[in-house]
Amino acid sequence: MSTEFTHESVMPYEVIKYLGPQSGDIIVDGTLGGGGHASLILERIMPNGLLVGIDQDQEAIKAAEKKLSGFKANTKIIQGNFGDIGKILTELKIDKVDGILLDLGVSMHQILTPERGFGFYPSPENLKAPLDMRMNPEVGLMAADIVNTWKEKELAELFFKLGDEKYSRSIASQIARKRPLNTVNDLLEAIKAGTPPSYRAKSLKNKWAANVFRALRMEVNNELGVIKEGIRGGLKLLRSGGKMVVITFHSTEDRLVKEIFKELTLTENYQPGFGLPKEPSVAELVTKKPVSPTESEIRRNPAARSAKLRIIKKL
Ligand SMILES: C[S@@+](CC[C@H](N)C(=O)[O-])C[C@H]1O[C@@H](n2cnc3c(N)ncnc32)[C@H](O)[C@@H]1O
Repeated sequence: MSTEFTHESVMPYEVIKYLGPQSGDIIVDGTLGGGGHASLILERIMPNGLLVGIDQDQEAIKAAEKKLSGFKANTKIIQGNFGDIGKILTELKIDKVDGILLDLGVSMHQILTPERGFGFYPSPENLKAPLDMRMNPEVGLMAADIVNTWKEKELAELFFKLGDEKYSRSIASQIARKRPLNTVNDLLEAIKAGTPPSYRAKSLKNKWAANVFRALRMEVNNELGVIKEGIRGGLKLLRSGGKMVVITFHSTEDRLVKEIFKELTLTENYQPGFGLPKEPSVAELVTKKPVSPTESEIRRNPAARSAKLRIIKKL
């Protein structure tokens, strides 16, 4: 495993602007990664604030512990899933927090560590990697379990729904033919066989396998399921006036965050006992539209291109 943690935090200025951490605040970073955003937050909540940093990946935890070592007294770092935010904070005996950040998806470090199986570029190191893709390699099914056991139709649906993959059916059919698939190379060969050469040639920066890899990664890590749990669970913990900032990198994720935020902020239709929504509004949107990275950030960090940041404020 590589020891250097490579990840450039996305929209750092906007995260601080909208989260608004103040001296003495308790802030949860539910996707700690290398601790980039966390260090910016910590600088602002000192000297008495507390940052609770959660990540399910042991490598991220180690990197963040190193990066945040100067803030030890003001940091609690937990290996866990932000979907369990309520349970994690109960164990820490914290019942209210001032802000929550969720910077969803995988880190560049995870993508660039071939052994993890996230890397879809056909580099020699990636090719021999196992089809794993678990953010926490200690639990759950691997991508190989899915491609080798799901029905062809189910795979096609997965690639279409979570990957927006135009050739979902032919790729699924090739996977079914070539089973068992064990390595990144096996999957890349199936994707190649299921897509026309012109499609791959047109793909910007050789990313023709990205959709299928993303769909598998999202399924392996139940990414959409935990977004719901994390946002709803997190909102219960926010104090009145506290903010939750969520960064997504893909339209499926962003649509889901938008829908959950909408459910939580509908007031005008609420009538106790009549129709939907069933609960009164508990939050308000801070910006109507999602915030995007600036052109200069995208030039500096092309991985930020698809990022969208949404903010909700607890009433
Ligand atoms: C985009 S990176 C975060 C980078 C971080 N904000 C920084 O500035 O360094 C996403 C991180 O969230 C973690 N992650 C994704 N889903 C998670 C979940 N449900 N629970 C806990 N950690 C999660 C990943 O392991 C990864 O380290």
